[in-house]
Amino acid sequence: MNYLVLGNWKSNGDQKALTAFLAEFSPVNRALIDGYRTGIAVPYHLIQAGDFGSAWVGAQNVSAFPPGAYTGEITGGMLSELGTQFGLVGHSERRHLMGETVEQTRAKLENLQQSGIYPILCVGETLDERNQGRLHEVLLAQLAALDIFTKDSSFAVAYEPVWAIGTGVAATPADVADAHRFLRETLAERGFGHVPLMYGGSVKPANAAELAAIDDVHGFLVGGASLKAGSFGEIDRAF
Ligand code: G3P
Repeated sequence: MNYLVLGNWKSNGDQKALTAFLAEFSPVNRALIDGYRTGIAVPYHLIQAGDFGSAWVGAQNVSAFPPGAYTGEITGGMLSELGTQFGLVGHSERRHLMGETVEQTRAKLENLQQSGIYPILCVGETLDERNQGRLHEVLLAQLAALDIFTKDSSFAVAYEPVWAIGTGVAATPADVADAHRFLRETLAERGFGHVPLMYGGSVKPANAAELAAIDDVHGFLVGGASLKAGSFGEIDRAF
């Protein structure tokens, strides 16, 4: 099983911030252990803006289209040319603020896979959906995008409950354990039992160890706390 601790800088950061981060950040021994990866999904303009050492560098989005007349779109091939090692797809901000559909997430996963970039599908429910008892229904609908993969495909799924993102209030260990068990069982039924399941949503140094100890949590996707080398390093060491 792979363990992944990945940062998501979202639309934050500039050259100065990245240089300072990389000067301080060291994923030390962990990144050298086979099957364990630390990385950061930076904004596109920073993908080649520093030496990430043993850490992975990732993109936060990719085009849903093939190369061609799609002004402004960045294809998987372009990301690959920049040395991008992993890519996020279906982040809740893209689904809810940009209206990204399941069909688009499917096409994006495919574009990343075809370009040799490790895809990570983000899934998660809003508070309303959870309160209406629709957690499983929502996750199943979002997981439909995985039907482009075969049993041998290499990818990860990140569970990010929308209500825990950027709020400072992470899901409780019980909620995370429940959702991850459901995801693991669902993925296993489809032949994806090997797929790492990450948790994201207000992960910070103070709660990382408790969340990392949960069965079926094989990594974190970290927003705000990944912007500082100190806090991201502490989270990185939780596994
Ligand atoms: O993709 C990571 C994310 O959405 C979680 O953000 O700031 O709650 O850690 P944050």
